[in-house]
Amino acid sequence: MNFPPVGLGTMGIDDPDAVATALALGYRHLDTARIYDNEAVVGQGLAAGLAADDGADEPLGRDDVTVATKLWIDDLAADAVAPAARESADRLGVDALDLLYVHRPRGDYDPDATLPALDRLVDEGLVRNVGVSNFELADLDRAVERLDAPLAAHQTELHPLFYRPELLDHARDHGYPVVAYSPLAGGRVREIDAVVEVAEAHGATPEAVAIAWATAKDPVVAIPKASSEAHLRANLAAADLELTDEEVAAIDAVEREEELFPE
Ligand SMILES: NC(=O)c1ccc[n+]([C@@H]2O[C@H](COP(=O)([O-])OP(=O)(O)OC[C@H]3O[C@@H](n4cnc5c(N)ncnc54)[C@H](OP(=O)(O)O)[C@@H]3O)[C@@H](O)[C@H]2O)c1
Repeated sequence: MNFPPVGLGTMGIDDPDAVATALALGYRHLDTARIYDNEAVVGQGLAAGLAADDGADEPLGRDDVTVATKLWIDDLAADAVAPAARESADRLGVDALDLLYVHRPRGDYDPDATLPALDRLVDEGLVRNVGVSNFELADLDRAVERLDAPLAAHQTELHPLFYRPELLDHARDHGYPVVAYSPLAGGRVREIDAVVEVAEAHGATPEAVAIAWATAKDPVVAIPKASSEAHLRANLAAADLELTDEEVAAIDAVEREEELFPE
């Protein structure tokens, strides 16, 4: 699975061109969810991106792109998982989902029913990797224990206003990556003095610093959402910005806590 430091969050993207542009710029990880109601848009953008590259010397192939989506909490009963996953794949226009997450361990989630149903989809080939999102440590332990497939990712909120080091420790200990969602705090990183100070020192934007701060952490990749070409380009380049240990520590120490997506 291609999991570069910066992928594309697509919540709120309703134009396939943004996705196709992202692929042309070099994005290789697209993140959506049934609940975003835009899987078809992402699928159209993916198809357009692949078609646009068709004549290139080394054309972009379907397998170069990680297509990730999520089962919502009412799709998690044992008999609901397979139809929901098939519908997502159909809307995305793909034969297989590279990564299918449990969006939240709520609603119909039952580790003893939901996770075996996901394992069966891996065996059948509809799903290549299984991930979880918004899990707490106890939920993560249970998932690691219950899944036959290796846990492929934990997607969790991570930005300078909301950072849970214990979740990163768990990921390192168990050998799976953390996908940082809302890494720009939904566009609010400009309001954080510590981030602005580091940005000024580097002649960079606060958004670039927030992405560099997240991706400097092991084992984190980030999925900022962007719709304009300028933002898409800037966010992809941001992972190359190198922060000093002191700068990372200064942002770690930000005390203002703001979880954007609480339970
Ligand atoms: N698993 C979950 O429960 C969960 C929950 C929330 C989000 N997510 C995922 O995480 C992704 C990202 O999170 P998010 O959409 O909440 O917010 P985000 O990525 O933290 O912030 C997106 C906002 O920042 C703006 N922006 C992007 N790049 C910028 C730049 N270089 N300079 C200035 N502004 C910039 C965007 O504007 P433009 O669009 O105008 O570029 C948009 O308003 C989602 O799209 C989704 O895929 C997952």
